[in-house]
Order: sequence, then C-alpha cells, then structure tokens
Amino acid sequence: KNIVILISGRGSNMEAVVRAAKAEQWPARIAAVISNRADAQGLVFAAEQGIATAVVANKDYASRAEFDAALQQVIDGFAPDLVVLAGFMRILTEPFVEHYAGRMLNIHPSLLPLFPGMATHRQALDAGVTEHGATVHFVTAELDHGPAVASATVPVLPGDTEDSLSARVLVQEHLLYPRAIRLFIDDKLSIEHGQVRVDPQ
Ligand code: GRF
Repeated sequence: KNIVILISGRGSNMEAVVRAAKAEQWPARIAAVISNRADAQGLVFAAEQGIATAVVANKDYASRAEFDAALQQVIDGFAPDLVVLAGFMRILTEPFVEHYAGRMLNIHPSLLPLFPGMATHRQALDAGVTEHGATVHFVTAELDHGPAVASATVPVLPGDTEDSLSARVLVQEHLLYPRAIRLFIDDKLSIEHGQVRVDPQ
C-alpha cells in the first residue's frame, strides 16, 4: 500500500509514522511527503530517509480550489491508498476531501469534539478541563469534525502552560497516529456510511 503524508512544518508526527513503518516493517510504503511550505522542517528528515518529497505552495495559487486541484494532482501521482495529514495547516475544499473520502486521516491535538480549530492547548487551559489529548479522525468537509478513529488522553496538571501541555499531548500523538494508520494498512479500519469500523483482533 502507498501512503502519502502531508505536512506544513516540524513534521514530528510524520517522523513517528515513518519510524514505525520501518521498525514494524509495515506492508506499506511511504510514497511521498508533500508540504505546502518549502521551508517545512520535516522535508529534511523525509529526504534523509530517501522518501520522495514535493512542495505545492499555496501562496502560488489564487484560490483554494486551484491550490487543492494542484495538490491533488501531485498526490495522485503517487497513487496513494491512504493520505495522512500530519500538521497540515490548510483548510481543504469539499471536492478535495470527497476525492479522498474514506482514505484520508488527520490527527488533531484535542479530544474531539472538544476544541476544534487552532490553539487547542490554549483552549483546553482556558476551559479548565482536567483531561486533554489527541484524536485521529477520518477527514470530512467540516473542519476537525470527521468520524473519530482513536484518541489518547493525558491529564492537565496544575501549573500547566501551553508548552508543557502540548509536549505531553505530542508524546501520545506519536504513539497514537502510527497505531491508527497501521490498522488502516492492515485493512482493519474503514468507514462505511459515515460509521467508523475497527475490526477486532
Ligand atoms: C500536532 O500537534 C498535530 O496534532 C497538529 O499539528 C501538530 C503538528 O506537529 N495537527 P508536527 O508537525 O507533526 O510536529
């Protein structure tokens, strides 16, 4: 199976997926890492691993529709079975999302449906919740609202800052995302009529 990973920056989740795929010898290939920013740090790691990289810069396109069309063309050049959003900071248009329906995952740093959107750790601290975390979900047209596949929970501790809380969540993201992707690769995860199905065993 071919996996294409989209990033915008640091790429630590992408790195966790690449490392897990290698260590566990997934029956899958990370076919490409694609960024919407040429300066995304994660591109360096991907290239070092011998993975094909590409940049489709949103700033070069006049509209979201044109950007998404160009991005789709590059992604599809790698014949992906699964598209993995890993810190990809662009809102995607409906035709793009529809094209990858049932084969595009995202990780969001909150316990969805709580705190969609940006600055999730700030939102969690401001709300005074005692638990926070990350969620892997299938991508649908509504931002951060696709059906959840799996989540990981961490405590919010007294004295937490955005930095301390995001670091605690990130450790869990790096475990959670490879696990969820592995299920998909092993044909144990799918979405049917908007319902997530995870096979036991
Ligand atoms: C992660 O917290 C991810 O959940 C969110 O953006 C961050 C990306 O970090 N969508 P990285 O680029 O994977 O290091």
